[in-house]
Amino acid sequence: MLLLKDLVRKVKDLPPLPDIVVKLLQASRDPDASVREMVELIKHDPALTTKVLRLCNSSYYGLPRKINSIQEALVYIGTDTLVNFILAGCLAAFYQQSQDGYGLESGDLWRHSVGCAIAAQLLSPADDDALKSEAFTAGLLHDVGKIILSSFVGDKMQEIMDIVKDEDIPFEKAERRILGFSHTEAGAQMAKMWNLPEPLIEAISLHQTPQAAVNHKRLVAQVHVANILCISFGIGIGTDGLAYSFDPSAMEELELNSDDLYAISVKVHDQFSRAEDMIGLIAPTGHADAKAA
Ligand SMILES: [Fe+2]
Repeated sequence: MLLLKDLVRKVKDLPPLPDIVVKLLQASRDPDASVREMVELIKHDPALTTKVLRLCNSSYYGLPRKINSIQEALVYIGTDTLVNFILAGCLAAFYQQSQDGYGLESGDLWRHSVGCAIAAQLLSPADDDALKSEAFTAGLLHDVGKIILSSFVGDKMQEIMDIVKDEDIPFEKAERRILGFSHTEAGAQMAKMWNLPEPLIEAISLHQTPQAAVNHKRLVAQVHVANILCISFGIGIGTDGLAYSFDPSAMEELELNSDDLYAISVKVHDQFSRAEDMIGLIAPTGHADAKAA
């Protein structure tokens, strides 16, 4: 059984989230932060600049002209999207390894996270750019706790799955009983230690139990539905894939009916297929051939 101090030690053993990501995330939520400040932050990292420009010029965007500078990139794809891509680029390194404990092969959790980010974004109201961006980020991060728990869950997986089956309870409840923590709690702990914004912490923590959300019900509901959609599409799922339950209250929160959900599913499928290029570009070395499921 894991204790909080074990979890904290595990998080500390990970490479830290690059400073630039935390700074950009904070700047993107600060109405007083200027585009110039953002450009300055990014410009000082040549590798990041190159990656961002390649991404902007990839077929995922299909922009009508070539983007040659960070300044131009910010104008064309917007600050929030740019910050999300940088975050995605940095997170890719964390998702590099296989999460064997969860039966996830190398690249699976990465594809699942990108798929969930796309779906969560698509579940936002069309005119709410801030929520779209936040939902994308939350989707990318929702299962980050699996990175930490993977090494602990391995030989306990059968026991956890037996409880899920025998007691008909969701995976994360059985996971918490056997390990002391669920991957949602472990992920929220990581997000806290990385000083990520509070809405993201709530989305990571409660994406399996959206009815428990307090301050960011809509965001949490979007990540919940997005996760279930990706699972139903088979995007990067492991042993626990089908051991999660769908909470219909999330559909009420989002004011969605089954026709709406079907229409969004089609869009998710389409955008995820086009994201193959993006996934390859921001995937860590050795994963450039990551393919959409
Ligand atoms: Fe997930």
